[in-house]
Amino acid sequence: MKATKICEGVYWVGAIDWDLRNFHGYETEKGSTYNAYLIIDEKITLIDTVKAGFEKEMLARISSVIDPSKIDVIVSNHAEPDHSGALPALLKIAKNAKVYCAAGAGIKDLSAYYGDLGYIGVKAGEVLSLGRRTLTFLPTPMVHWPDNMVSFLAPDNILFSNDAFGQHFATFERLDTETDLSEAFVQARKYYANIVQPYGMQTNKALAACADLPIETICPSHGISWTKHISEILALYNSWAAGKQDDTVTIVYDTMWHSTEEIAQAIADGFSACGFKPRLYNLHHSHNSDIIADAMTSPYIAVGSPTLNNNLMPSVASFLTYFKGLTGNKKKSIAFGSFGWGGQSPDQVQLMLSECKCEALMPAIRIPYKPNQSQLEKITADVIAAIQNN
Ligand code: FEO
Repeated sequence: MKATKICEGVYWVGAIDWDLRNFHGYETEKGSTYNAYLIIDEKITLIDTVKAGFEKEMLARISSVIDPSKIDVIVSNHAEPDHSGALPALLKIAKNAKVYCAAGAGIKDLSAYYGDLGYIGVKAGEVLSLGRRTLTFLPTPMVHWPDNMVSFLAPDNILFSNDAFGQHFATFERLDTETDLSEAFVQARKYYANIVQPYGMQTNKALAACADLPIETICPSHGISWTKHISEILALYNSWAAGKQDDTVTIVYDTMWHSTEEIAQAIADGFSACGFKPRLYNLHHSHNSDIIADAMTSPYIAVGSPTLNNNLMPSVASFLTYFKGLTGNKKKSIAFGSFGWGGQSPDQVQLMLSECKCEALMPAIRIPYKPNQSQLEKITADVIAAIQNN
């Protein structure tokens, strides 16, 4: 396995995880990459490492350029184990390497995982000379953990952005000019929705901190690097971080005998009549992490569950729990569901939606057993009226 040249003296030396399908609850249906970058200068420098288990792949790629024992500097932009897991193995080979990380949180997090390995904390704006080049460190806390930072390489004008601007998909191609660009944007959106979304305010600060940098390449720690399409990915991040919403409604439900599904469709008809684009997700077939990517920009969300043993369906409770942790902007919501007796689920959905920063657009829709045609038409009419009165 070989390194991939990004520019003169800078190489991608990471690992491709073709088999990854779950990243702490995020379905990574196309795998991922763990990106590490090697800089050949007077100080041989490695930006981040890879997940434990991929050390051999990273070391083989480094060895295709230089003996790994010659590494002088390791920058840990983020301590999460997908980027730091190979650090202990690397330090056994690169015995004289110094590890730089964010002062405070970086040292705390790396020490918690690997013990005291003599970390050097860096602060905002601190500059490290590598010889012909310099690295400037900028903290980006909570994008995605408290310790996150980015490193800017001059004069090559490369921003090593770690989790920011990343995408989970396994690809041999390293640049936006080489890969399927639409796939890269889809995966960047899913990545933002599932990893970064709760931290919009901190993302805005990080974007502001990077705004004056003459960035020519963004090298994140997952997926492809951005070269020709930097302005597009920056514009998308600005829009997502600002909580901008579109003209869609995300409708999520589970169903036992299709009654809750029929209510979902009647709700969709109401939104469609008002010019919104419905996105329907049956939880039998859809993964929470895909739904979140659509829900992120919807101004409305409708969630439905039949009543099962006086409760929500577990799939709906799972979605709402996942959604609660990832709500980035305020939405109007509709709770709905069918029931045979008891009928607790719509109110339970309503309560959980209120805990997800959602404001009820209308009272919860509750239908016993199976909706008839006139009930479905009334649901559609009530939804239209609620949107028009909103
Ligand atoms: Fe890719 Fe927060 O780690």
